[in-house]
Amino acid sequence: DAAFIRYHRLIFPDHTAGRRYYHMINSLFTVEISVDHQDCEGYPQEDSSERYNLSVSAGHASVNAESVWGVLRGLETFSQLVYQDDFGTHFVNRTDIEDSTQFQYRGLLLDTSRHYLPVPVILKTLDAMAYSKFNVFHWHIVDDPSFPYQSRTFPNLSNKGAFHPVSHVYTQSDVKRVISYARMRGIRVLPEFDSPGHTNFWGRVKLLTRCHLHPSGTFGPVNPALPSTYQFMASLFKEVASVFPDSYIHLG
Ligand SMILES: *[C@@H]1O[C@H](CO)[C@@H](O)[C@H](O)[C@H]1NC(C)=O
Ligand SMILES: *[C@@H]1O[C@H](CO)[C@@H](O)[C@H](O)[C@H]1NC(C)=O
Ligand SMILES: *[C@@H]1O[C@H](CO)[C@@H](O)[C@H](O)[C@H]1NC(C)=O
Repeated sequence: DAAFIRYHRLIFPDHTAGRRYYHMINSLFTVEISVDHQDCEGYPQEDSSERYNLSVSAGHASVNAESVWGVLRGLETFSQLVYQDDFGTHFVNRTDIEDSTQFQYRGLLLDTSRHYLPVPVILKTLDAMAYSKFNVFHWHIVDDPSFPYQSRTFPNLSNKGAFHPVSHVYTQSDVKRVISYARMRGIRVLPEFDSPGHTNFWGRVKLLTRCHLHPSGTFGPVNPALPSTYQFMASLFKEVASVFPDSYIHLG
C-alpha cells in the first residue's frame, strides 16, 4: 500500500494533492499485482527473490512476482516507463518484461563517521538507491574520526566520540527510521562497526593499546590483554545485533 502511494506520486508528480484525481486515473488504467509469498512484515534478506514480470497492455498493467521485493522492483520499472507528451498527457507503451537479478548484492556505502550525514540526507540516498534498484545500504556508521551511533549500552561512545553529542548522533529512533525506510524500498541495512582497528574513539573510553614506540606513542587497536575489552565487545555487538535486523554485521 505504501509503495502504491509512493509510486503514484512519482508517476503523477503534478497530481499529488487530489484524491479525486487518484480515482479518475484509476478508472482509466489499472495496475494489478500478484505475489506468491505475501510476506509484507519481514525484511529483505540476502537470498530474497526480486524477480518480476511486468506486462503492459491497453488500460492495464500487471506485475507478477514471487515476493513483495520483486513487486517493488516491478513498480519501479513501471514508474520509469510512464512518460508525458508536450501537453502533459501520460502514456505508457505496451511491453512485456521478465526481469531478475544478475547480482544479488547491489550495495552503496555511506561513511557517516568521517562526515556526519543528517538523517534526511540518508533517506534521500535510499530513494535514489530504489530508483536504481540497489538493495543493500552498507552503513559505515562509525570509524576513527567519529562515533555517531548512540548506543543504549554505552552512551559515552557517542557522548565523547561523536563530532557533537546531541546534533551529530544517530539516536535509536533515527536508526529505526532508516531501517524502516530502507525496508519499504526493499533495501537491507548492513551496519559496519570496525574492530579491532579503526577504533580511535574507543580510546576515549579507555580500551585501546598504548603504542609506546611506533608509530607515535598514541593509541593502537583495542587492547587484547584487558578482560574488559571482551566484555565490552560482547555487549556492544549484542546490542548491534538486536538493533539491526540484517543477518550480517560488517566488522571492517
Ligand atoms: C514470468 O514469466 C515466465 C515466462 O512466462 C514464467 O516462467 C515465470 O514463472 C514468471 N515469473 C514470475 C515471477 O511470475
Ligand atoms: C513508445 O512507443 C512509441 C511508438 O512506437 C515510440 O516512438 C516511443 O519512443 C516509445 N516510448 C518509450 C518511452 O518507450
Ligand atoms: C560517562 O562519562 C562520564 C564522564 O567522564 C562518567 O562520569 C560516567 O560514569 C560515564 N558513564 C558510563 C555509563 O560509563
